[in-house]
Amino acid sequence: MSRFITFEGMDGAGKSTHLAWFAETLRQRGHEVVVTREPGGTPLGEQLREMLLHQNMAIGTEAMLMFAARMEHIEQVIRPALRAGKWVVSDRFSDASFAYQGAGRGMDWARLQQLETWVQGDFQPSLTLFFDVTVEVSRQRLANNVSLDRFEQERGDFFERVRAGYHRRVSECPQRYRVIDATRDIESVKHQLELILAAIHE
Ligand code: TYD
Repeated sequence: MSRFITFEGMDGAGKSTHLAWFAETLRQRGHEVVVTREPGGTPLGEQLREMLLHQNMAIGTEAMLMFAARMEHIEQVIRPALRAGKWVVSDRFSDASFAYQGAGRGMDWARLQQLETWVQGDFQPSLTLFFDVTVEVSRQRLANNVSLDRFEQERGDFFERVRAGYHRRVSECPQRYRVIDATRDIESVKHQLELILAAIHE
């Protein structure tokens, strides 16, 4: 059975590194795996990503563009792949909108839920891996980056809110999430992922 798995967490949580390894492991198990990301994942979505990461805009605009890119992503990439029996692994999905636009920027949670319902209906990932990291560690890991996007440039208190937003999402639907302690080193995180992979029934 095909699966839609999303990776979430703050900037600097290390999810992109682990996502590549996770997808490769699924392929070795014989699955066809589509790796994708948000915002982005389609030609139009990637154009929207450019704007979202670098251009200032109102909070509502930001939220709607995130969901516009997502609608395209679901229609053009995610649903067709799932219908074809493939597994889809996405670097971020709607939880990021709740964490960043909702908790981080202060957009009304219920408004975001309306957008989510409009764009997704009851479509949700089968599993979400939340890479939880302290703001301090996240900042340290970002410190070496030469060019930071609009989100990465935000201050520490913004990221405290983002982290709390992710925790709120997890508490609203705990069965969909696996929370990974991403403050630990790479080997330890990989071990946590191995346990999660072992528990995924095909
Ligand atoms: P990210 O996925 O972390 O890419 P990179 O690893 O290349 O920096 O960057 C995407 C940014 O977009 C990230 O800071 C979070 C933000 N974002 C939102 O604010 N809302 C959303 O709905 C999504 C999908 C991402």
